[in-house]
Amino acid sequence: MTATIITFGISKGGCSKSTSSGITSYLLSQEEKVLAIDMDGQGNLTSFLTGEYDICNVFEEKTVLEAILEGDARPYIIRIQDNLDLIPSNDFLATLPRQMYSKRLKLDALQKALAPIIEDYDWIIIDTPPSLSEQTILPLSTYSEAGSHVVIMFDGSMFAYYAIPKFIEMVEGARDRYNANLNTAGILFSLIDARAKENEAMLESIEEEYPHLKFNTVIKRKASTRRLPIAGFNGNPELKNALEYYIPFVEELKKRVQQKQPQR
Ligand SMILES: Nc1ncnc2c1ncn2[C@@H]1O[C@H](COP(=O)(O)OP(=O)(O)O)[C@@H](O)[C@H]1O
Ligand SMILES: [Mg+2]
Repeated sequence: MTATIITFGISKGGCSKSTSSGITSYLLSQEEKVLAIDMDGQGNLTSFLTGEYDICNVFEEKTVLEAILEGDARPYIIRIQDNLDLIPSNDFLATLPRQMYSKRLKLDALQKALAPIIEDYDWIIIDTPPSLSEQTILPLSTYSEAGSHVVIMFDGSMFAYYAIPKFIEMVEGARDRYNANLNTAGILFSLIDARAKENEAMLESIEEEYPHLKFNTVIKRKASTRRLPIAGFNGNPELKNALEYYIPFVEELKKRVQQKQPQR
C-alpha cells in the first residue's frame, strides 16, 4: 500500500481544522492504518489525540520539526491506539522556516521525511496552521503515488470566505511546482449554526463560485463535538452524538478520493 494524503487547511483560525483532522483520523483508523501529522505549532491535534497539553516539555525534540530537519519521520512516530499513529508538534515548529533555510532544505522536505514510512499507512492526515507559511506549503507539496488531497475548511464567516481563493491559489502553486496530482477534495462547511440565516447565502455563494467543491455533508455546531478534546474517544458516552456529522463526511471524502485516484 501507499498512503493517500489528506491535508486540512485554510488561512483563518477557528474553522475546525484541528477538530476535523483529529476526528477524521480517528474514524479512518477504525478500518485502516492512519498516520496523523500535526503541522501547527499550537499542537492542538497533538493534544487532541494524546490528551497531553504540556507539549513543549513532553515532546521536546520529538516532533515533526526534527523529522523534517533530519529527513526521516521514523523516530518521531508515536502510537495513539490500534491503527492510529501521530507525529506530534510543539511551539518550536515556529523555527521551521529559519532552520530549513540554514539547512538549505526545499519544499519537498516533508515528502523526504515521510518517504521511509509512506507505504506503512493507508492514510496520512495532516493538520495545518491558519497561515500560508512553510507549515502549510510543505504538506501541499508532499506527493504520494496514491494521491494527495486538500480539504478546505470553511466556517461560513466573511473572513474565511475571503481566505478561500488565497488558499486555492496556494494549492495551485504547489500542484504546478511539486505535486502534480494534488487535488482539492472539497470545501467543508463546519461550525454551522442552524439558526444563523446568513449561512444559507454563504452556502449558495460557495456553490456558485466553486461548483462541485462543497461537500454535501455540513458539520453543524455541537457541544458534544466541542467537548471531545476533554472527554476523548474512549469510554465517552456521547461519542456517537459528537461524531454524527463526521461519519457521513468521511464516507463522502473516501468516495471523492477514490474518484480522483491517479491513473497508473
Ligand atoms: N462541530 C463543532 N461543534 C462545536 N464546536 C466545534 C466544532 N468543531 C470545532 N469546534 C470548536 O471550535 C473551536 C475551533 O476549532 P479548531 O478545530 O481548533 O479550529 P482550527 O484548527 O481551524 O483553528 C474549538 O474550540 C473547537 O473545539
Ligand atoms: Mg488548529
